[in-house]
Amino acid sequence: MLSDSSKHLEVQVGPSGRAMAESMDPALLEGFQAHFNMERQAHATYFGAAIWMGERELRGFSKHFNDEARGEQEHAAKVADYLIARAQSPELQALEAPDQSWKSVLDVMSTAFLTERDVTTSLQQLLVEAERVGDSRSTVFLEPMVEQQIKAEHEAAHLLGRTRFADGQAAAVLVIDNELREGVAHPAQLQ
Ligand SMILES: [Fe+2]
Repeated sequence: MLSDSSKHLEVQVGPSGRAMAESMDPALLEGFQAHFNMERQAHATYFGAAIWMGERELRGFSKHFNDEARGEQEHAAKVADYLIARAQSPELQALEAPDQSWKSVLDVMSTAFLTERDVTTSLQQLLVEAERVGDSRSTVFLEPMVEQQIKAEHEAAHLLGRTRFADGQAAAVLVIDNELREGVAHPAQLQ
């Protein structure tokens, strides 16, 4: 019958009017929006760190954080792409002004590690929530992000440890700065 077959052509849409294959649990969506903005906040933090290092002639550290800042912007963009694909509208929320009052290179590296730790926690919570509501599109999206994030956390822990080892001595800090200038930031690898 005509009325029945036309029913098959009904397409659910999201807030922007985009075709939606599967609606998203409100709490999960809220978590995605918060995570999207957390990546943007991490971008601002790392850009602040790049400026702080640049002002102190630590060009390797500055480059490292400028690259990290770009990476966080890309992570935010990746989440935005995913939300759009799910017919949801990514919400740009107000960011906090990053605290730029670091007293030492060690302080900055500690901030970087804590930032990565918090981002990992947020992603893991999102994954748990996605699993809880049975949103398999989201679990497929999040699993590789969690894996990548754990690597980022590992690297931040390594750089924090190396900086701690330098103990504020200029020569040692400059060795790390030169390494970072060349893009060497990875931890020891035993496999
Ligand atoms: Fe990130």
